[in-house]
Amino acid sequence: MNILLASGEVYPYSKTGGLADMVGALAVALANAGHEARVVTPLYRGIREKFPALRKVDWQFDLPMGLEHIQAELWELDVARGLKIYFVDQPGYFDRAGIYQENHFSYADNAERFIFFSKCVAHLARYLPWRPDVVHVHDWQVGLVPALILQQKTEGWGNPPPTCLTIHNLAYQGVFPEAAFALTNLPEHLFHTEGVEFFGLLNCLKAGIAYADVITTVSPRYAREITTEELGCGLDGLLRQRQKNLIGILNGVDYGEWNTNRNPHLPKPYTIGRMAGKNFNKRKLQKDLGLPVNESIPLFGTISRLAEQKGVDIQLGALSEMLNGNLQFVLLGSGSPEYERGYRDLARQFPGKVAVHFGYDETLAHRIEAGCDFFLMPSRFEPCGLNQMYSLRYGTIPIVRATGGLDDSVIDWTQNPRLATGIKFFEYTSRSLAKAIRKALVLYGQAKLFQICRRNAMKADFSWDQTVHNYLNVYEKCCKPAIVA
Ligand code: ADP
Ligand code: GLC
Repeated sequence: MNILLASGEVYPYSKTGGLADMVGALAVALANAGHEARVVTPLYRGIREKFPALRKVDWQFDLPMGLEHIQAELWELDVARGLKIYFVDQPGYFDRAGIYQENHFSYADNAERFIFFSKCVAHLARYLPWRPDVVHVHDWQVGLVPALILQQKTEGWGNPPPTCLTIHNLAYQGVFPEAAFALTNLPEHLFHTEGVEFFGLLNCLKAGIAYADVITTVSPRYAREITTEELGCGLDGLLRQRQKNLIGILNGVDYGEWNTNRNPHLPKPYTIGRMAGKNFNKRKLQKDLGLPVNESIPLFGTISRLAEQKGVDIQLGALSEMLNGNLQFVLLGSGSPEYERGYRDLARQFPGKVAVHFGYDETLAHRIEAGCDFFLMPSRFEPCGLNQMYSLRYGTIPIVRATGGLDDSVIDWTQNPRLATGIKFFEYTSRSLAKAIRKALVLYGQAKLFQICRRNAMKADFSWDQTVHNYLNVYEKCCKPAIVA
């Protein structure tokens, strides 16, 4: 099959979170399964320098944006057999220090930037000499693509390919003032409550939900949750209407990138059979972070965007109680200055027990996954979550709130004592999380049980083979004409 993927970020070219990891890995997995995947993404600052093999394509975009026309160029990178990346080069929009924001402020022209990008995707889908069988778009940044493609059907594009939208996070919808709708050049009648309008505003993700042939999201449980008022972010009604075409598929993990035995980021490799390397990595991490070096102290870690979704408030509450005991905690995160302050205060309150690192650091992320004993992910909601799956492979027991993909990917003791891979808690409270941390400390003290849990975790398999198979089924479903609207 020929699959055209589109995303505002794709690893290893750009990344702010798991969206980039997922799209990058899906494209590789499709190519490995013998399909032809091409990915469209913006050419952000620095990509050309980091990937000198990028080639300019003989191609010019000249697309209407309201009453104006905007031009852009196209670059491409042949990554492997069956995998090509297209980069849309519009320096005015994309040659900037950040991807969506700078200094915690979103760019004021994000609507314009991603409406334009979505138009480039629809244009490529129509005019590339290579014909996609399906166009698969990811999140709000490209949510308008299905509507733009359908619109071209009325403008002489006889048989456009079907479209699939994946929702990675319903909390980010790309909502902009009504005036932005004029930039889409879509007909006025789409600006209504069953279409792209959301309380008088333009909603890019809603546009995708309304007009894509099939909608997927990144775990089966989250697919159910988003049809409820509690987690539907105002779109649960529309999602219920489209439920027959809404499918939850758990993300896979790129074990080529996230592994413990061939990983340039790790001081020492290790495997299930040879765990000495993990202990070495723990001591090295403690040393480098300025914590007392002591293998017997349980080390907890978190790597996260510091956003409301991630459960920062209950984590700070639980840790300020639990850190009175014998444990250490390390955080790698970036996001809200208010949350950063919270963690800084925690570090001040517990010197020698807490290490915090703000900013984005890929090497440190691998080293924390490898060096810790437990990984904390107390999310308020979590569409899929990748870090808990990385933790499993690294033998770092995840402590997760039972929501979304966290619930789908971790097995708690109470679910199956023989196969347990982690610890789950249910209530969104500091008390409940503190109790889960207490359970972890008990587990840590029981070497045999801890070892069983660690082995189970490291054996858990979330490789892309199954995930890709599920996406291929979805693509086939989209290609069949008899889709229930
Ligand atoms: P989300 O996409 O909601 O942020 P995920 O768990 O799906 O959550 O994915 C997060 C990804 O971003 C992981 O690959 C994680 O390692 C990475 N990440 C998050 N924060 C940082 C950071 N400060 N430095 C390095 N990597 C980070
Ligand atoms: C989003 C979600 C996260 C998911 C990631 C990749 O950022 O917040 O849960 O793992 O997308 O699908």
